[in-house]
Amino acid sequence: MDVFEALATRRTAGAFSAQVPPREVIERIIEAATWAPNHRRTEPWRFFVLAGEERARFGEQLAAEIAANGGPERRIESTRTKPLRSPIVLVVAQHGTPDNPELDHEDYAACACATENLLLAAHAEGLATKWSTGEMAVQPAAFDYLGLAPADRIVGYIYLGYAAEPGDPKRAERSPAVVSWRGFEG
Ligand SMILES: Cc1cc2nc3c(=O)[nH]c(=O)nc-3n(C[C@H](O)[C@H](O)[C@H](O)COP(=O)(O)O)c2cc1C
Repeated sequence: MDVFEALATRRTAGAFSAQVPPREVIERIIEAATWAPNHRRTEPWRFFVLAGEERARFGEQLAAEIAANGGPERRIESTRTKPLRSPIVLVVAQHGTPDNPELDHEDYAACACATENLLLAAHAEGLATKWSTGEMAVQPAAFDYLGLAPADRIVGYIYLGYAAEPGDPKRAERSPAVVSWRGFEG
């Protein structure tokens, strides 16, 4: 699969089967993530691979925090079960540098590039992915569980596995790029 095909055919997955991808494949896609551009070569990405019971433990911890804060039952339950959506939950986090906002900004961009690399590499390996953020990405309980500092960022939860159903083709719809060509004479 060439890069243009991978870009055009990668889609956010709808649902995953229970089949666990081989460890070496997961290692390969994480390595692909680290080939992302990174201005100061700080390699700001941190990866966590949650599998098996660990996913349930993670969901319990996040759900308990929402419950302790008086959150609605529906949200508590959905948070508890979200990590069980796929056999692997890969967390991409950024090492934050609050004393250097410019670097922090660049490093977030690098981590987003790394995440896209990861999605494309997974796709090329025949795996399905769903990048997710939302409340779970900012919950203190998630930071505690993963051992992240408050200045770090959870760039995304990447649900990873084999597709049980294809992604929604509507997600593929794009408007023409908004481009302002200036001075181009080719
Ligand atoms: C930073 C970021 C956060 C996202 N968070 C979510 C999310 O919380 N839930 C979700 O269903 N999709 C999430 N997505 C996936 C987008 O909804 C998806 O990429 C978009 O619908 C386009 O579909 P495609 O990935 O199939 O091209 C996120 C994507 C990005 C880049």
